[in-house]
Amino acid sequence: APAPVLTIDGPSGSGKGTISALVAERLGWRLLDSGALYRAVGYAAGMAGLDLSDVEAVTRCAQGTKIQFRAAPDGGETRVIVNGHDATDELRTETAGAAASAIASMPSVREALVALQLGFRKLPGLVADGRDMGTVIFPDARYKVFLTASAVERAKRRYKQLKEKGLSVTLAGLQREIEARDSRDASRAVAPLKPAADALLVDTTGMGIDEVVAKVFAVVQP
Ligand code: C5P
Repeated sequence: APAPVLTIDGPSGSGKGTISALVAERLGWRLLDSGALYRAVGYAAGMAGLDLSDVEAVTRCAQGTKIQFRAAPDGGETRVIVNGHDATDELRTETAGAAASAIASMPSVREALVALQLGFRKLPGLVADGRDMGTVIFPDARYKVFLTASAVERAKRRYKQLKEKGLSVTLAGLQREIEARDSRDASRAVAPLKPAADALLVDTTGMGIDEVVAKVFAVVQP
């Protein structure tokens, strides 16, 4: 039987990244941060000076970009290596998020990243975090969760996260950017942001991290 998969989808700031990492660690499963792949392609395209609306050029870029995840030696944040360069810091900005969202609307770019994502599915299991994990990439996943939270709370979480990493951002600006990105992700024709029919919906507004982890964990080990 193929390795079990837990998909955790949702909009930006819903807590997917944090929750996925904690649950994967607790289960001893692998982790796929699919957003990092789109961010990496957007970044590589930008570095190559490509026009981010040039579908053919960006698709070739997606096909040719080497993306690696490397565990930090100190147990800290996983590093993302793009064409041999550690781009972790560049990838976390909202500018990188917006570039990712722009190129992620191209079906041929999404197609170029499918095999890479499927390759993460290995025993003992995989926690896959993104927008279309439960709907498109792992429709047969054994466990599916969709996390949401109010727009204000999501902006606040992202604000806190980026501030902690030393980035200069404003809450109002961030909320505007996140709303623009979410509405583009939700309205695109291919793999739009939406819960799988069989996903457990969890509104995390006002919930602490431990509470959300417990809820998600209960899906896998009821
Ligand atoms: O999750 P993260 O904020 O890193 O994702 C960045 C962008 O990548 C999203 O706004 C979305 O447009 C795109 N994405 C996607 N499909 C995924 C994961 C991310 O289209 N599975």
